[in-house]
Amino acid sequence: MNNAPVMEVVDVHRSFTIGARKLDVLRGVSLSVSEGESLAITGLSGAGKSTLLHVMGGLDRPSAGKVRYRGRDLYALGDRERSAIRAQKIGFVFQAYHLLPELTVLENVMLPGLSADGAFLRGQALYARARDLLRQVGLAERVAHRPNELSGGEQQRAAIARALMNRPELLLADEPTGNLDSRTGEEVLQYLFQLATESCLTLVLVTHNEGLAERCSRRLYLRDGQIVE
Ligand SMILES: Nc1ncnc2c1ncn2[C@@H]1O[C@H](COP(=O)(O)OP(=O)(O)OP(=O)(O)O)[C@@H](O)[C@H]1O
Ligand SMILES: [Mg+2]
Repeated sequence: MNNAPVMEVVDVHRSFTIGARKLDVLRGVSLSVSEGESLAITGLSGAGKSTLLHVMGGLDRPSAGKVRYRGRDLYALGDRERSAIRAQKIGFVFQAYHLLPELTVLENVMLPGLSADGAFLRGQALYARARDLLRQVGLAERVAHRPNELSGGEQQRAAIARALMNRPELLLADEPTGNLDSRTGEEVLQYLFQLATESCLTLVLVTHNEGLAERCSRRLYLRDGQIVE
C-alpha cells in the first residue's frame, strides 16, 4: 500500500446562480482520501454532499479550488484525459442511479467496459464479469430486465455493479444503500468492504445511515458547506 493520497480536495467552493441569487453550496472544503480507506460523508439534506461527490468524481467543475487524483489536477486536464481517469479509475454511484432506460440491466453494467477508455475486457470476459457483478449484488435473475422493470433497490444494486465494472481504484457512492432493506444493504456493503480489503478499493460513501458511517474507517460531517471532522 502506498501512503500518497488517492484524492485530495483543496479549498473547493461551488456556487450556483439562480436568477439574481447566488447560492454558496460548498464553502472551502478540503479533504484527503488515502488508499484503501473507507470514508463516510454525512450531513443534513441539502448540506452539499452530492455536490461534493460530483466535484470529486470529475463530473462538476468547482467554482474555485482543486481536486487532485493521484496528484493530477482533475479540472486542469482536458476533457478527454479527465474522462479517461473517470472511466478507468473512479466508479460513481449516483443518488438517482441514472441507469439508461433503453438498455437491459446486463447492458447497463457492461457499458463502462465497452467505452474506448474503459475497455480492458472484451467479448465473453466482459459479459462474464458483468454477470458476476450482478450475481454479487443479488441480481442474477434480473439481467434481462430494463431499469423500469426493477424496484428502486434493484436499480440501486445495478448502479453499484455498473460502477464496479472497470475495477475502479476509488468508488464514490451517493447513499448506496438508501433504498435497500437492512439485509440486502448488509450483503451489498459486505461485498464493498470485502473489495476494499482484498482489492484495495478506496471507498467514499455519502450516507444518512449511522451504522454504515460507523463502519467506515473515517467519517466527515458536512455542515454549511464546510467539513467538520
Ligand atoms: N445544479 C444546481 N443548481 C442550483 N442549486 C443546486 C444545484 N445542485 C444542488 N443545488 C443546491 O445545493 C444544495 C445542496 O445540494 P446537494 O444535492 O449537494 O445536497 P445533499 O447534501 O446531497 O442533500 P440530500 O441529503 O438531500 O441528498 C441544495 O440546496 C440544492 O438546492
Ligand atoms: Mg444528495
